[in-house]
Amino acid sequence: MDLNTEFAGHVAFVSGAASGIGRATALLFAERGAKVACIDIATKLCKQTTDAIHEAGGEAIAITADLGDAAEAARAVADAIGAYGRIDHAFNNAGITGSHEDPFDLERVERTVGVDLMGVIYCMKHQVAAMLDQCGGTIVNTASIAGISGSVGALDYTAAKHGVVGLSGAAARKYGARGIRVNTVCPGVIRTGMTGEVEDDTGQLKEIFSRLSPITGKLGDPVDIAEAVLFLSSERAKFIHGVALPVDGGFSI
Ligand SMILES: NC(=O)c1ccc[n+]([C@@H]2O[C@H](COP(=O)([O-])OP(=O)(O)OC[C@H]3O[C@@H](n4cnc5c(N)ncnc54)[C@H](O)[C@@H]3O)[C@@H](O)[C@H]2O)c1
Repeated sequence: MDLNTEFAGHVAFVSGAASGIGRATALLFAERGAKVACIDIATKLCKQTTDAIHEAGGEAIAITADLGDAAEAARAVADAIGAYGRIDHAFNNAGITGSHEDPFDLERVERTVGVDLMGVIYCMKHQVAAMLDQCGGTIVNTASIAGISGSVGALDYTAAKHGVVGLSGAAARKYGARGIRVNTVCPGVIRTGMTGEVEDDTGQLKEIFSRLSPITGKLGDPVDIAEAVLFLSSERAKFIHGVALPVDGGFSI
């Protein structure tokens, strides 16, 4: 199989595509032949992602939406389908960090859960409907190692990411027999905007996170997650369904 054309003619929906993991995944989908709907709240940065895809000869559109809002998420899915006619592969990845300072700062907690969990549900509602109509598709949701362990991440973030793992498993059970394959990717500590504070730290924090990725002793790169997402979205993973896959350099050992 030629990996470079693996997704030729397919349509991918990638949220959080303006930066980090989402951006790397949008670029990789495009490189391997997919038309990519890039969704993000950050309009300018998202446009930079689609510009990079166009410069490399690929096809993509940028859609601005706050996915923590049900109506905007519905519009984002509708716009993607309006542009390309279908969604073969959804990657629900947009996210924010939780409230580290005050775990019960309710306004902040509601926003974290609103984007990191409800945002995935809002998108899936319309993606699943479209995939049922077109008789199939794949969904990969981004959780975190904080979605499979209580020992990393803020309370609200951990709760939301456990929710994503549970949601994805339940959706896999419900829709698998109707042709929708659903999995979750659980990144370890990856070098992105979200982990800026780890990168800036010259001492303890960086040391701890590096030590906890035993395979490299380093933080992961966004493309490490992108490769896992493309694999889970591909026919090569046709027998993988309902799993929460850690991609963390061994962090979760
Ligand atoms: N970086 C890590 O170490 C790490 C580890 C585990 C899980 N994750 C998860 O990976 C995903 C991607 O994060 P990243 O590390 O690439 O961070 P990032 O900050 O680089 O990217 C997140 C993207 O989501 C977008 N976004 C935020 N709120 C949004 C909203 N309401 N609507 C639409 N878009 C919104 C941001 O604008 C940004 O482009 C997140 O779900 C995050 O929780 C990251």
